Order: sequence, then structure tokens, then C-alpha cells
Amino acid sequence: MRNLFHVLTLFPEMVLQGLSPSVIGRACEKNIITLNAVNIRDYTKDRHGKVDDYPYGGGAGMLMQAQPVFDAHRAVTGGRNIRTIYVTPQGSPFTQQMARELAEETELVFLCGHYEGIDERVLEEIVTDFVSIGDYVLTGGELPAMVMIDAIARLIPGVLGNDGSAEEESFYRDLLEYPQYSRPEEWHGRKVPAVLLSGDHRKVAKWRLEEAKQRTARRRPDLYEKYQQKQLLIRLLSRQKRNHIHIMESLDRGNGEIVYSHNGEGTLSVLVYDRNSRTSMAIAADCSFGEKIADCLPGEGRFIVISDLFLKDILAKRHYRVLGEYDQMLYTKKEVLRVKHRDIRCLTMEHFPQVCRLYCPEGGPGIEEGYLRERILAGAMYGAFLEGNLAGFVGVHSEGSLGMLYVEEPFRGQGIALSLESYAVNRMLERGQTPYCHVSAENTESGRLQERLGFYKAEKTFWWLEKVLAK
Ligand code: ADE
Repeated sequence: MRNLFHVLTLFPEMVLQGLSPSVIGRACEKNIITLNAVNIRDYTKDRHGKVDDYPYGGGAGMLMQAQPVFDAHRAVTGGRNIRTIYVTPQGSPFTQQMARELAEETELVFLCGHYEGIDERVLEEIVTDFVSIGDYVLTGGELPAMVMIDAIARLIPGVLGNDGSAEEESFYRDLLEYPQYSRPEEWHGRKVPAVLLSGDHRKVAKWRLEEAKQRTARRRPDLYEKYQQKQLLIRLLSRQKRNHIHIMESLDRGNGEIVYSHNGEGTLSVLVYDRNSRTSMAIAADCSFGEKIADCLPGEGRFIVISDLFLKDILAKRHYRVLGEYDQMLYTKKEVLRVKHRDIRCLTMEHFPQVCRLYCPEGGPGIEEGYLRERILAGAMYGAFLEGNLAGFVGVHSEGSLGMLYVEEPFRGQGIALSLESYAVNRMLERGQTPYCHVSAENTESGRLQERLGFYKAEKTFWWLEKVLAK
């Protein structure tokens, strides 16, 4: 499934030339995304190629007419229902959250206006979203459309390369990015902060977090307040870390949004929505809080993780079905694990067919191919290689848990699973994350492996549920 951006414009060359020399251009060359700039003027029925006319009721300037815009739109959509964004200063403000949401669509249409705007009647017929890039007026919609395409496309797996960096930089953990330095060590009498030269990863991470906090508090107090609310909830949840690590990790990585939270006397009721995985995570003090939480469930979410038995009944009434029962296990130590096996590295799309064959054979574990593809492109799958052959793999799920461990039959009994898990744990520790996983209650072998590595089990039982969509 390739991502397709159509741009309806009077200046198609401006859009193509503007984006082609960039990272976006390279993603087009690699066939990860496609940019289709369509000249609205090609669709006018006017003999002289005119696309504008005077506004009824008078007023300054000219308006783009409905007919050429409608026909250009019809030509790209063929009457299909495709999300169509009119870029206009009268729209809702474009945000990173909106970029994430739009990156989920496989096809988008951007409509760029010119002159004083576009005849309202065609907007009513074809536009699904009105979006602005800021409270200022530009001469046309091409630059805003390019800004939005750039912000959306870089979130599409594979566009930025294989390092998972899109999710880690600015807005990581709801904070602005920390200051960065490159060579030379001293420039204009200004030295690079000594901690960055120390080689101590933990100290560097601590310094960066502190700088990011200070910068956000100074430049974006609104974002900082949101960050503080999440940190406060993380502290409350940490009183029962084993039972709550999944919610704490989702919040700490900046993917989780607090939808509901109530701090009673010694009890907590919380609903967090993890955007990355479209998964809700809930804990409830009792049935009445459970009902409240169920009322707040976000419409777009597909899954929910719970650890209170009564929530299962409440959610069953709301069309959720249980996918499985799990033990939550976590690694709370800070010690890096020994990795015996040498050749472990990030998987690339070259390995996709093999991973699918091993992990999704008929009747095998229910992981969809599209999901595996997305995880590989996000740089979240690691493979162990023996003499160049892929012997096994492990991955990090989109909500943050470790999983998808598999070792091919002929390579079993050589400690490869242990090495893969240890490698993945170390990568998470480097990022300041707490490794955790959901082990199926039947999978005693996997549970034993986690225990051997030093994982602890939560007291509660966990259930994953999925929304059953009406047919
Ligand atoms: N067209 C002109 N100005 C604009 C803006 N600020 N945002 C989106 N589209 C526009």
C-alpha cells in the first residue's frame, strides 16, 4: 500500500519542484510515496483557459470557479470517497497530531486556492477538512500544502530511513528538542557542554531531558503543562509499577494521551489512549468508574488493554471481544544484558517475506502482514543472523511492549532467543525505556525465558480486547 498525495493547483510545477530535491523526493523515487500534481486549469471548459470570475455581490479580487475545481477533483478520485483537504487561512490549525492522523490515510487530496478563494458550492461538495498552517495569509495554497505533505510524509514508515527517528525527535515525550552540537568542540569561544563529550550515555540522556524541559517551559508553556500532567500521572501509577508499566511507558514515550483520570483515596481510575497503536489502556477502581471509562473510549481506537475482571463484562456489552489473556512482565533493573550472539541487527524490507512466512503461516500467530511491514519500516524489528541466514527475530510492538520472538526450527537450542531478547532489552534501556512484555498465559516457555533474564511478573492478569465492528 503506497501513500498517494494528489495536489489540485494552478501551479503544479511549484509543488513538484518544491518537494522533489528533498527527502520527500527521494521517497517518491523509492516508490514509498507518490506525488500527483494536477493542474486545475486543464479542466476548465472556458475557451480561453479561464478559471476565475468576479464574486457575486461585489468585492475585491477574483474567485476560482466551481466547475474546473470539481472536474479536477473528479478526475483524481473517480468519485471515490477520499479525504480532501482545502488549505485555507480559515481552517483548523495544522498540528503534529493532525499530521499523524493524516499519515494513516493511503490517499489524500490537497486543494490549493488562489485569488480571493474558491466558490463555496464546490467546497461544500468535495472538501472534508479545512486546514490552515497559521494565522497569516499567503498568496496561494501551494506552500501550505507542501508544508503539510512534508510533515505527513516523514511519518510514513520508510520515508526517513530505517532508524525509527520520526517518533523520537521534536515533540518526543511532549517536549521540544534539546540543543545539539557538532564539531568543532569550540567555536567563537563557545564550548560544547562537557557532558556531551563524556561518553556516558546515561548522563547525556539526563542532561538532554533537563534541557528539553527548560526550553519547553520557556518557549511553550502550554506544552509544558501537558507534559507535567502526564509526569504527575506517571508518578501516581508508579506506586504499582508492575501492574501499570504499559500505561507509564505509553505516556512517557509521548504516545499516550490522558482521556480520563481520577485519583481517589488510594485508588486510581485511568484511561489513556496510545495514538501509535490505536490502543486504549484502562484501570478502574470499581464498576462505576469502569462505566465512566467505557463512556469515554475514543471512537477511533481499535484495541483496549485491561487488568480488571469487571471491565471485561462492561466492555463485552459495548462490542469488545477478548483476544487473549496475558501476564505482564517487566525488567526494572538498569543493568545491560550480555548478548552472546554477535550478529544481531535491524531487519529491513528485504527480510519481510521471510518474517511473514515464519510468523504468519496459516493458523500461526495472528499478526497481520501489514503490521509486520510497518514494524520493520519503523526500525522496531531485530534479526539474528547465522552465516548470513536469518535465524530468528524479535520486535517492539507499536504500544511499546517486547514481542514477536521467533527462532527458526534448525537454529533452536543455541541460545538465540535469549540473545535476541537481551539485545532488544538493551536497545530499550539505551532509550531510557523500561522493557516489558505481555506473555500469553499458555506460553510457559516464553515466561521462563523472561524470568531467566530478570523480568518480574505483575500480580494482575491482563486482557487484550478488540472492538467488533458492525458488519
Ligand atoms: N492559504 C493562504 N494562506 C494560508 C494559510 N495560512 N494556511 C493555509 N492555507 C493558506
